[in-house]
Amino acid sequence: MKIISSIDELRDQLRGQLRTAFVPTMGNLHEGHLSLMRLARKHGDPVVASIFVNRLQFGPNEDFDKYPRTFQADVEKLEREGVYVLFAPTEKELYPEPQEYRVRPPDDLGNILEGEFRPGFFTGVTTIVLKLFSCVQPRVAVFGKKDYQQLMIVRNMARQFALPTEIIAAETWRADDGLALSSRNVYLRPDERAEAPALYQALQQVADEVRSGHLDIFQLEREAMARLTKRGWKPDYISIRKRIDLQPPAAGDLAKNEPLVVVAAARLGATRLIDNLEI
Ligand code: PAF
Repeated sequence: MKIISSIDELRDQLRGQLRTAFVPTMGNLHEGHLSLMRLARKHGDPVVASIFVNRLQFGPNEDFDKYPRTFQADVEKLEREGVYVLFAPTEKELYPEPQEYRVRPPDDLGNILEGEFRPGFFTGVTTIVLKLFSCVQPRVAVFGKKDYQQLMIVRNMARQFALPTEIIAAETWRADDGLALSSRNVYLRPDERAEAPALYQALQQVADEVRSGHLDIFQLEREAMARLTKRGWKPDYISIRKRIDLQPPAAGDLAKNEPLVVVAAARLGATRLIDNLEI
């Protein structure tokens, strides 16, 4: 695997490649990321991964400085997956001057759910993703469904800007007890790690109730949040949304079997976890 930190060198290395499959990451790679690499391999060749902890998508009180950085272990994992190039730029390489041009997602998608609790987050994400796409020029790029709203926002950006990159969705990778794998799980203390699957269980319970015909979605959301709160969580939201645009379903949508997803974010101790489940 070639480890490249300069944009010029990356472009030289990938010149003429028409089927590049790209997986952008912020490192601290786990089995979920590796499943993205394997899916990328099915959709293109060569596979290019990136590791870049993108300051632009962190709020002033978020965990940019303490975000886990495990470069050497990440390199070994990517080698084993047969990744061809790892693009690992420095901040100075990607942001040599203040990034004044940014991609701002529409408010009705970018400022809801995660965007409401993390102002500016999606502008930071779309800006870096567009920039990484410009560096790598991939034919396909793989994003995990665990970050459901991110996936939708990136997909809409690619469509609206007519980017030549197809966005591929990868299923969420879960531990045996159901917890969605996330780089932030390393922050959990052992007792918190034992409690953490309760978030996925809450989603499953909501999904089961919707499937069995319970139509009062606000009541379901309120009850699910109350159950988690009782167990010591601080939920930001548990919300049933339409898959198509992440807006709340109207009563008629439920009767029409509109495809739904239940999305959640909650704090357990100092760690904020997100998850979702398609209904
Ligand atoms: O999902 C992530 O790890 C990040 O948001 C991404 C897509 C790599 C952009 O920094």
